[in-house]
Amino acid sequence: MSELKQYIDNNQQRFLNELFELLKIPSVSADPVYSQDVLNAAGFLKKNMEKIGLDNVSIEETPGYPIVYGEKIIDPSLPTVLVYGHYDVQPADPIELWESDPFEPVIKKTKEHPQGAIFARGASDDKGQMFMHLKAMEYLLKNNKLEVNVKFMIEGEEEVGSPSLAWYVKRNHEKLKNDVIIISDTGMIDNETPAITTGLRGLAYVEVEVTGPNRDLHSGLYGGAVANPINILAKMIAGLQDENKRITIPGFYDDVKELSPEERAEIAKIPFDLEEYKKSLGIDEVYGEDGYSTLERQSIRPTLDVNGIWGGYTGEGAKTIIPSKAYAKISMRLVPDQDPEKIADLFEQHFKAIAPKAVKVKTTRMHGGDGYVTPTDNEGYRAAALAMEKSFGKKPLPIYSGGSIPIVPLFEKELGTKSILMGFGLNSDAIHSPNEHYGVFNFLKGIETIGYFYDFYKNLKTQ
Ligand code: BES
Ligand code: MN
Ligand code: MN
Repeated sequence: MSELKQYIDNNQQRFLNELFELLKIPSVSADPVYSQDVLNAAGFLKKNMEKIGLDNVSIEETPGYPIVYGEKIIDPSLPTVLVYGHYDVQPADPIELWESDPFEPVIKKTKEHPQGAIFARGASDDKGQMFMHLKAMEYLLKNNKLEVNVKFMIEGEEEVGSPSLAWYVKRNHEKLKNDVIIISDTGMIDNETPAITTGLRGLAYVEVEVTGPNRDLHSGLYGGAVANPINILAKMIAGLQDENKRITIPGFYDDVKELSPEERAEIAKIPFDLEEYKKSLGIDEVYGEDGYSTLERQSIRPTLDVNGIWGGYTGEGAKTIIPSKAYAKISMRLVPDQDPEKIADLFEQHFKAIAPKAVKVKTTRMHGGDGYVTPTDNEGYRAAALAMEKSFGKKPLPIYSGGSIPIVPLFEKELGTKSILMGFGLNSDAIHSPNEHYGVFNFLKGIETIGYFYDFYKNLKTQ
């Protein structure tokens, strides 16, 4: 057994205990009720970074939640790896659908994880994955095996669009200077099929408010004569996709990069069981844009989805009103070369244009971000692929993911370096959903893989 594997074996219970401690902190960045907990999670990381032997560990203040920074500079002339991750988590709601307390981690077996999975909010996204980097670094530092420079930058606002990290990165080009960024905040195909994410979707997000009459009205006295904003909103939303499930906003597809038949053939090779997919989601049929496979629909095609819709009376029993207002939160996942600002503009123009005169429409933009693609012919990707091949015994597949990490394209713009998305989660981890979990296998394999990465990277960079 390799020294690294032996170290993981000997320390795995302590690694899990430490991760559990972090998972118990409800660091929900979206809800100010948890602001002290978010700060506590940063404090936990600072202590852990100090304990494993990183230098210049500091809680970097920002206009929002802090960034936890730590580094080990072996020799400024050697290559530098920047590790990014996030310590904030999504809200746990709807809490009643959790089978155990979201902030009291427990290990339970699942179909995908016969060795057990850690159930807790943030287990996979991203505390469990981010923490693997600290534990791999612990091994390298304790055994004097780190042969490149490393910088850790862990933020607390990823789930709310990373506003302060963008602020911080712009002001710290020199401090954050690196040759490659590594991130574990994405997924693999399954536990036998490792993958490296080479594409992420972008995001444009708009909240809409449709106003009818200036107050809720008696639906008997006024019904039929005044526009009901909920009826109108529903109709407007329904018209945003045509019968082929294509988005009807003029210009929406103008900059969409179409994949070549060869690229699509590569996607078709990715192991995917449609029957199993439907079964796991409890659906009888999939639904999406005509002419594309499910894997394509959820990665290389843009989307438009209502995330929430509300208005009027939703309490017990029947109340007869025509509501004054109706609201919806609408997100669009974008593909390279779609510009989130341009798409949000097109959406707003179109949404106002299709509204009947009987209502008023107000739109508010939420955070968004660019999509991302990274080539596979650089040292970072190759080192990650070699590390995965060594730990899994199988070459990873490059995959496009449907998710978004808007800070990744920003890193490239500000720092000039590529990010290697070496994630170990599974789609079945239920990130952002009730009962989020992360395989113990994935956690330990991740530590092992990351442990191998540095050596491969150093060799590729300095040969
Ligand atoms: N880690 C996820 C993104 C992700 C997950 C990408 C799995 C690929 C595979 C990240 O924490 C996330 O949830 N991002 C948000 C965007 C953000 C602006 C809130 C998303 O994709 O919705
Ligand atoms: Mn994440
Ligand atoms: Mn997330």
